[in-house]
Amino acid sequence: MYLTREEEKALAGEYGYAVQKSMELLVALGDVNGADRLISVTSVQVSGVSYKTIGDAGVEFLMEFSGSGAGVRVLTTLNPAGVPLSGELPVPEHFLRMQGRILSAYRRMGAVLSCTCTPYYACNLPRYAQHIAWAESSSVAYANSVIGARTNRESSISALAAAITGKTPLYGLHLDENRQPTHVIEVLTELRGELDYTCLGYHAGRLGGVPFFQAKAVPAPEELKALGAALATGSVSMFHFSGATPGRASVEGLEKIQVGRGELEDARETLTTCDSPEVVAVGCPHASLGEVLRVVELSPAREVWVFTSMQVKQLVERHLRLPENIKLIPDTCMVVAPLEEMGIKSIGVTSAKAAYYCMHLSRMQVRLDSLEALLSCED
Ligand code: F3S
Repeated sequence: MYLTREEEKALAGEYGYAVQKSMELLVALGDVNGADRLISVTSVQVSGVSYKTIGDAGVEFLMEFSGSGAGVRVLTTLNPAGVPLSGELPVPEHFLRMQGRILSAYRRMGAVLSCTCTPYYACNLPRYAQHIAWAESSSVAYANSVIGARTNRESSISALAAAITGKTPLYGLHLDENRQPTHVIEVLTELRGELDYTCLGYHAGRLGGVPFFQAKAVPAPEELKALGAALATGSVSMFHFSGATPGRASVEGLEKIQVGRGELEDARETLTTCDSPEVVAVGCPHASLGEVLRVVELSPAREVWVFTSMQVKQLVERHLRLPENIKLIPDTCMVVAPLEEMGIKSIGVTSAKAAYYCMHLSRMQVRLDSLEALLSCED
């Protein structure tokens, strides 16, 4: 791979240990993927922030790495942590201590402790066609498909290396040719709300590639957010939706796959194992202001947890006094918080991504359903 003189110096260790190790990793990644050079990125979104997902080995690595003088060179925001920074969830003491070390390490490196998977609602909104290096799968799908920025689905380590150097290898979704649709998904049923979009995304995610959705609906940005997050439970990091996503897409000669109500129902059934969840939790990906207001409008009788970013929480609380049963929980989510260690065994969610990981990672009973149905179900 071609490297500039500055990049050669970084690789040779002239800018310190952390830059050298990061450059080694990016060059190796570029070589494996056939990149011919590195490009600059304007922002990074780092995953691997919750103690639940990175464990003791991850904490040790971050403490050592940040202690070696590592510092970010571009705007770097974080994925949700395992606890709200203001402590609204009663998580075990050990978890809290280890989570604190992770956040201190990122703070020492200069990352913004925004702790959200919707950085585009907070302080990290890229522009169309900008190259970025983001790691969290739903934010990657949103950035590529809805904003039109360009990012591969980075690992937590490659995103951190991009943050330290401000560079990423030029391959994959940074290139025009890989951003074109690979197949068309013709949606034969009317799409009605977040549940339909998340079920569609879960079904289409199993097919991989870069799908082009043809449907009568013109989805709202939140519905595209739900679609992208569910697609990302498969291997999809970018999609097109007719009339709703930016950029030119050619569908000539592509295979057409039809999806109807039956496929959406199948997805919901696959991700449902209980009727009466103990906890109802929405906000996967983190709720927008509009989504929080929708929960308030429905005036639920039961308790509901709404995961969101600190920025959205503060905005809501500046203007509204929420009823006690609507809990806005920032900085974490139903998947990366240790809910199972808090004794919670079943959960109702509106997102296929949350359902999938609560079922497979946290081993909980799950009900995937619409917001209205969950808020009126028995606990
Ligand atoms: Fe975000 Fe957690 Fe869902 S990180 S996309 S709310 S699983």
